Amino acid sequence: MDILNRLADTFKASFHAKPAFIACAPGRVNLLGEHVDYNEGWVLPMAIDRAAYLAVGECSSPLVSLTAADLDDGVAFRVTELDSKIDVIGKPLKSWARYPAGVAWALKARGLDLRGMDAVLTSDVPRGAGLSSSAAVEVAFATAWQRLGGWALAPMDLARACQHAENQYVGVSTGLMDQFASTCGRAGHALLLDCRTLAWEPVPLPDGLTIVVADTMVRRELGKSEYNMRRAQCEEAVHILSGVLLSIAALRDVSVGDFNRHAHRLSPVVQQRARHVVEECARTRAAAEVLKAGRAEEFGALMNECHASLRDLYEVSCPELDAMVGAAQKIEGCYGARLTGAGFGGCTVNLVAAAAAEDFKRDLAAAYDRATGKKAEIYVCQASEGAKVL
Ligand code: GLA
Repeated sequence: MDILNRLADTFKASFHAKPAFIACAPGRVNLLGEHVDYNEGWVLPMAIDRAAYLAVGECSSPLVSLTAADLDDGVAFRVTELDSKIDVIGKPLKSWARYPAGVAWALKARGLDLRGMDAVLTSDVPRGAGLSSSAAVEVAFATAWQRLGGWALAPMDLARACQHAENQYVGVSTGLMDQFASTCGRAGHALLLDCRTLAWEPVPLPDGLTIVVADTMVRRELGKSEYNMRRAQCEEAVHILSGVLLSIAALRDVSVGDFNRHAHRLSPVVQQRARHVVEECARTRAAAEVLKAGRAEEFGALMNECHASLRDLYEVSCPELDAMVGAAQKIEGCYGARLTGAGFGGCTVNLVAAAAAEDFKRDLAAAYDRATGKKAEIYVCQASEGAKVL
């Protein structure tokens, strides 16, 4: 693989040695269950065949010397000096360096043995595209520290440590879905996760279907603040509804019927946000059954409903995502299309008949260009295994 050769070359150039090992952690695409993980609902992502790769050499001191090959940047920090978020010369860690440092911090908080390392990071998960490039980086580092320290956490616990890092150290209140998909991915399968109990099962993707990802190439910086705001609106809905629905602890506990009876208690915007979550929980559970039965058309229809809900109720779409989805839904062989991930730009996910995939990619690129004047990147994704040491 080209990317691995380039990585080994960069490692040699940086550290004048061969890496001891390469840790690799995939990105993910979410098929259904969007903006429900932090509401303790159900999600249906799959790990993809694009990943973060970390070439690692052992180091006898607590120093992490890291080259970020794709950013043409580097950082050095000590695993004994994480709380202050500074590098080895006392400068504040740049935002990208807070991901690895945060993972070290979260693993240390669990009492695990953390070593220094010489490392080079590269990734073919596009950044800011809704395919969890950050979770892939976090999980790659966690996997590397696990190998270096000689301890072993269950994949779900490794995922939770990475989520802890992102929530508390980086400061984005994400749910567990991305890190979970990256540690627990299964080749050929989507993963149905109950975000409250953390029980999950692999759901085989039926033969004859492909998952096509279409990148609008639009990136919106406001994503992070809007994300935290959506989360706060969901919490407000739970707070108000729990006055009448006494047993609820999260929106996942509210049935569509109960929601319809009590929605008027919420402000119009909070009502919209909560309705998306309540209906999306029901949609995702239904979709998992439909997928197990191999009913592609019904699954696709639920994806289309999900997009409309993210666009109109949750308001996390953008004109380019809507153009991409609208165009895809008109193309022969496409069962369903929607934005994937947090939204505000990034990618759509499309369920397409395998035999139609090549024509679909071509026609979608042309239609998107006509509608927006922009060039899309469109590729088939294979459902892949979770993180590992190569
Ligand atoms: C981001 C977060 C996830 C999830 C999605 C939206 O990817 O990291 O936890 O909330 O957005 O479904």
